[in-house]
Amino acid sequence: MASESSQPVYRATTTAPVNIAVIKYWGKRDTTLNLPTNSSLSVTLSQRSLRTLTTATCSAKYPTEDTLNLNGKPQEIQSSKRTLACLSNLRALRKSLEDADASLPKLSTLPLRIVSENNFPTAAGLASSAAGFAALVRAVADLYQLPQSPRELSRIARQGSGSACRSLMGGYVAWRTGELADGSDSLAEEVAPASHWPEMRALILVVSAEKKDVPSTEGMQTTVNTSELFAHRAQTVVPERMTAIEAAIQARDFPKFAEITMRDSNTFHATCLDSWPPIFYMNDVSRAAVRLVHDINRAVGHTVAAYTFDAGPNAVIYYEEKDEALVAGTVKAILSASTDGWEGPFYEKLANITTPGVPLDQIDSRVVSGLKDGVSRVILTGVGEGPVSVQDHLVTESGDMVNN
Ligand code: DP6
Repeated sequence: MASESSQPVYRATTTAPVNIAVIKYWGKRDTTLNLPTNSSLSVTLSQRSLRTLTTATCSAKYPTEDTLNLNGKPQEIQSSKRTLACLSNLRALRKSLEDADASLPKLSTLPLRIVSENNFPTAAGLASSAAGFAALVRAVADLYQLPQSPRELSRIARQGSGSACRSLMGGYVAWRTGELADGSDSLAEEVAPASHWPEMRALILVVSAEKKDVPSTEGMQTTVNTSELFAHRAQTVVPERMTAIEAAIQARDFPKFAEITMRDSNTFHATCLDSWPPIFYMNDVSRAAVRLVHDINRAVGHTVAAYTFDAGPNAVIYYEEKDEALVAGTVKAILSASTDGWEGPFYEKLANITTPGVPLDQIDSRVVSGLKDGVSRVILTGVGEGPVSVQDHLVTESGDMVNN
């Protein structure tokens, strides 16, 4: 038998993006397979601002158990059904390649060592499970040299976290609910690449929550089980909105896209309020952001900005680059340029904008003070690409963690 040090370490590293839904996934029809009650659609955000970097490695020199290290902390993966489901699906695909070609190294039999890092602080309050599971699935699929397309791999990422299946692709991505009981048709697919509508910008207003929100997995089950509005949303409202927003994306019709986005966020939060006991994700600062967007649109005379909120108080404001001064310029004047996070790859144009596009006397004064006091940082970004294979491995050739 080869000595331990001579055992090769196989490696693959990838980045994966965050995505923010404009038609929300909320509710599962099967909790084991993680199948949704409705289709959803998201915008993949640029990895120049936010990304997860993951290295997947395997080697006979590692101890027998698979390990995962996240942001410098070892994770308890043996008790994480979701991670185990992703890894066993990926291993099975590798095994079938090995069974068909005896010359391939038997990577499916080797322990995995996976190391992952986000480039954004946990304090930013952004759910990172989508980027995290997308990166994990993409990195292991690359390590195993699997031929499956991102669409096929989305079936696996979905089992890690529903929203993760949409982070395997760039641009505008739909997750089709599917009809089959085994979930094999519940897949993500690209509606349009980022290059189709590259002017889309996303301004994230990070709002600190007073206490921890109900985790989305738990919150959505409460909604499914107790809300009367919920079935109407899933069965009637969302299917119509999916069709309409896909047409708006194809036509690059921002006002349509924006209205559907805002209405869907509102409907989703209405089903949360209709849950029993009710669930509140938005707070006073979130509501100030809603009013701000409506005030800006009213002052401009047409829709130039859209808000959306996930399972927490942070606002994401979508707008087109041509309206930078009207939207981001106004937010910058309210919050001041010294708020954390303005700098970054999308800031160049805004750096030179010093007056609000919409005069602040046209914005409700309570909105101005609410945002000033309640927004702790901003992230200015835009639509971006899907996972990218890179060489900056987080594990060395000899199998050690970098920076360890
Ligand atoms: C409000 O994907 O985090 O962000 O499948 O249980 O892991 P699990 O849920 P998760 O839910 C995301 C909910 C949402 C809407 C969305 O991203 O579509």
